[in-house]
Amino acid sequence: MTPGLQDRAAVFCARSVDGLTALGRTLGGALQEAVAGSPFLLLALDGELGAGKTTLAAATLAALGVRSRVTSPTYGLVHAHSFAIGGTGRKVEALHVDLYRLRHLAELDELGLEDGIQSTPAAASQVLLVEWFENARGRLGPPDLACRLKHAKRGRLVNLRAHSTPGARILRLLRGTAHSELQLLSE
Ligand SMILES: Nc1ncnc2c1ncn2[C@@H]1O[C@H](COP(=O)(O)OP(=O)(O)OP(=O)(O)O)[C@@H](O)[C@H]1O
Ligand SMILES: [Mg+2]
Repeated sequence: MTPGLQDRAAVFCARSVDGLTALGRTLGGALQEAVAGSPFLLLALDGELGAGKTTLAAATLAALGVRSRVTSPTYGLVHAHSFAIGGTGRKVEALHVDLYRLRHLAELDELGLEDGIQSTPAAASQVLLVEWFENARGRLGPPDLACRLKHAKRGRLVNLRAHSTPGARILRLLRGTAHSELQLLSE
């Protein structure tokens, strides 16, 4: 069956941090499930300064089971965390990346992110959450799921677009997030 637009895109309004955190919680659960079948998952987090990218990333990583404190990696560009896939104990590396301060595309090579994308062996899975993904100018390839956040009159708008089959599955699960401060605006 050809996937329709409904499988590929959605817009939420997160009226508060709690609403956005609820979305991140579902995202973490969905990634836990997805990474069991896809050894590499790439999530793009874009949007203006203060739009909520780190808030969403922190809630997602917490729900994945990352125990270390999640802060914005703006200064170091990459923070590496790890978590285990529920039930299996298989270790997954979760990289939280912030490309706000990326000065040259060559710096991306130094981070080694592309190596991970090309050569992640099946046994070593990786989830990449990349803030300011657009600064990579397409170098990292299309993300499984692109999240674009925007300030709204009240809270934030979250535009989601899936670019792969696992991304579409994650998006379907996100649609099911129930929270009083989170509203699905477009089907
Ligand atoms: N849905 C929301 N409603 C209201 N405030 C929010 C919402 N989501 C996040 N915030 C607040 O917005 C501020 C900035 O959030 P955050 O640091 O996550 O943004 P960011 O996009 O990562 O910013 P930067 O581009 O500087 O990295 C924080 O004070 C956070 O609590
Ligand atoms: Mg941030």
